[in-house]
This record gives sequence, structure tokens and C-alpha cells, in this order.
Amino acid sequence: MKNEKNSVEKQSSVKQGAKFSGSLGYILAVAGSAVGLGNIWRFPYLAAKYGGGMFLLVYLILMLTFGYALMMSETALGRMTGKSPVGAFQSFGNKKWLKVGGWINAIIPILIAPYYCVIGGWVVKYLFEYLRGNSTELSTDGYFTTFISDSLSAEICFAIFAIMGFSVIVAGVKHGIENVSKIVMPMLVVLAVITAIYSVTRPGAWEGVKYFLIPNFKNFSIMTVVAAMGQMFYSLSLAMGILYTYGSYLKKDADIEKSTKQVEVFDTGIAVLAGLMIIPAVFAFSGGDMKTLQAGPSLMFITLPKVFESMGMPRIIGSVFFFMVLFAALTSAISLFETSVATFVDELGLSRTKSSFLMLGIVLLLGTASVLGFGAWDFVTVLGMSILDFFDFLTNSLMMPISALFTCVLILRVVGRDKIAEEVKLSSRFKRQKLYDIVIKYFAPAFLIIIFISSIASVFGWIKI
Ligand code: TRP
Repeated sequence: MKNEKNSVEKQSSVKQGAKFSGSLGYILAVAGSAVGLGNIWRFPYLAAKYGGGMFLLVYLILMLTFGYALMMSETALGRMTGKSPVGAFQSFGNKKWLKVGGWINAIIPILIAPYYCVIGGWVVKYLFEYLRGNSTELSTDGYFTTFISDSLSAEICFAIFAIMGFSVIVAGVKHGIENVSKIVMPMLVVLAVITAIYSVTRPGAWEGVKYFLIPNFKNFSIMTVVAAMGQMFYSLSLAMGILYTYGSYLKKDADIEKSTKQVEVFDTGIAVLAGLMIIPAVFAFSGGDMKTLQAGPSLMFITLPKVFESMGMPRIIGSVFFFMVLFAALTSAISLFETSVATFVDELGLSRTKSSFLMLGIVLLLGTASVLGFGAWDFVTVLGMSILDFFDFLTNSLMMPISALFTCVLILRVVGRDKIAEEVKLSSRFKRQKLYDIVIKYFAPAFLIIIFISSIASVFGWIKI
């Protein structure tokens, strides 16, 4: 749903002076990119798996410190240089590490998009089945596992989702999507609130509410922090160049601090709602059994159909809900595609059409590998993970800390915190400047290194996941 990110558009928008004013348009564009499967599908399963309230607490702390500092930095750097990440890094010199820093930011969305579409495909399947009135089947045990191990149907759903996203890119109807999303996103919030209230009031659900909202230090492990950190990057679309690009479209008088805060509140609000929809329901339907809580990526697809089935009118509720999730997922996917296409146009000098097809090729190729990983190739594991989980781990737990570290080093060694502050203060009071300084200077670099090492250690089994 973003109206940015390819050089042709960029030039024309600059020519017409049609930059984001920084108010509603910008916030909606960033929120549309931010709110997606990350909030509704990824956050609840990670919270369930990595310690409930403890995960939530760590997530909130990280978001208000790191998330805040990185969002501010990326947006300010984008606006300062007027460029997307590869260009933004290189506008500070031709050193090799600047090139690497820009590229690692640009490559992450290219690797996320394929598996994002695979999950988008699962949403397509569930929507389709609800529309057909198959709600009872969807709520039976084992339905989801059977579906994803049937590679052909999973592949078809994945291709439908990917092609829907690309049609929007190629047809250039993003503005239409933006207008629709102004209606659909608020509807999603209303439906999520209703479902959450229903879910929380089920018999036995209260234990789940407590598990999700009250931190229990017994549930803390280093993996809680690693997972929360990866999720924060993922959910806010951080450490992958998106905000550089958005920032480059921002007017000099747009209040960066205010819009950052609003996006944080909105994004986290949706994630917490999704948690309240799903986690208490897990307790109501399975008594909080550990195995169900650890279900991982399948959690949303297994628990929610049971909730809808017991709510009455499952066909209607399920259809409306998965339609909205599909919409939120599509807007995010489109933004992932746009960013990647813009990188090809700007850095490889390809035409927009060629770039779009190149990206479609990459998505279909890597996405198919993820689909097969649950079916025909289910014997293939990378470092003990399924192919889809591996891509998720590679981008979120390994590449994003490195990419964020590059941004920190760029600010500390080259740009200078004072320059960032100057840029922010063109339009904001920068109330949290002290916090920003401490995070960027000490906390962030040390912490990112620890996270990176812990991720590697967990892969090799040196620490328990
Ligand atoms: N933030 C999105 C979500 O929560 C997912 C996402 C990750 C994304 N990286 C992105 C979206 C880049 C757009 C662009 O679902």
C-alpha cells in the first residue's frame, strides 16, 4: 500500500513536490507496511512459545528503546539523504563496508518476501474453505498439517497469493489499495476486539490471559530475548531498509518523532490484540498444554478455527476474519515487493518490468522450496529447521542484527549522533534524545552482538531454544 520506492516514481514525486506531509498519509503508509502477518500470525505464536508475559515484557522494553532508536535513525537517515538504503549508505563515501551495509538492508526483504507469500497462501486457503462453508473441517485436529504436507495445493495457494501481490505492482493500483485499506484496517481492529473478548471469556481462558500478560521469570531464557528482538525488527519492518525509503519521501517539516510513536502504538496494539485472540483460546481448548503452546507457525491456523467454530456462525466470522488477514498480508507483501523491485531498478539498472519479473522469479523459486519443505522434501532440514523456518531464522535472527549494527556504526563512526539530532529537530522536539543517545551509543551495539552470537549458539545447540 505504499506509494513510494522505485526511482521512476520517486523522481516524479519529487518533481511534483508530492512528498508525504508526515501526517496521516505517512502514518498509514508505514502502518500498512508494518501491520501484517507479523502481528497476527507471528507475534502470538512466538509469545506462546517463548514465555508468554515474559516475552511480552521483553518485547515492549525492546520496542520502546531499540525499536524507537532504530526507527528514528532509519527515518532520519532516509530523509537526510533522500535515498533508499544502498544509496543512503553510499552517500557517506565509497568505503566497502558502506556498500555491504546498504546491501544487507536491501537483501533482507528479498529473502522475506518468498516465505511471506507461502504463509499468505495458507491464509488464501483458509479464506476459500470458509467461503465454501467448510468451517467444521478446518477446526478438526490435523487439518492444517495435512494441508501443508500436500505440496500441490499449498503451492497453488502460494502462487495465487504471490500473483495477486504482483498484479498490484504491475498494474500500479496501489493508490486504490490504500483507499480500501483505510476502511479494511479499522474493520480488522473491530473484529479482532470482538474475537479477543469472546476468546478471553471462554471457560478456562483466564489462565491464558494470565500467561500472556503476567511475566513469570521462570519463563525467561536468552531465546526469549533473541525471539523478541527478531520479532520487533520484523513487525516494525526495521533493519531492512524500508524506513530509509519511507523517510526519503518525507517532507522536512514532518514530525518524525510523532509518527514513529504512532506507528509503534498501532503496530503493538494489533499484536497484543492478536495475542489475546489466540493465546487464551489455546488454554480454553487445550488446557494450556505445553505442546500446543509450542506449536509455532501453525498456531493461528489450528486454534482460531476452533474458536470460530464454537462462537457460532463460523462460516461468516471465519470468512470475514481471513479476508482481513489476507488484506493486511497483501499490503505488507506489496510493500516487500516494491522495496525489492526498487533495489533492482536503482542498483542493477533494470527496467521496472524486468525487475518485477526477476523478483517474481525469486519469490516463486524460494517460496516453492519453503512449500516443499513441509511436503515432498520434508526430509530436508537446514540446521535442524524446516526450509520456511530457516528463512525466517536467517533473516530475523541473523541478518537483521547485523543490518541494525551497520546502521549503528554508520551513525556512530560516520554521520554522528548530532547530525541525526539536527535532522530530527528540523521538525520535532526530540523529547527522548537522551534515551536515543544512550541506546545508539552503548546499548545497541553491545546488545546486537550478543543477540547475534546467541542466535548462532542456539543453532549449534550450545544453548537451549
Ligand atoms: N512488518 C510486516 C508484518 O508485520 C512484515 C514485514 C517484514 C514487512 N518486513 C517487511 C512488510 C518489509 C513490508 C516491508 O507482517
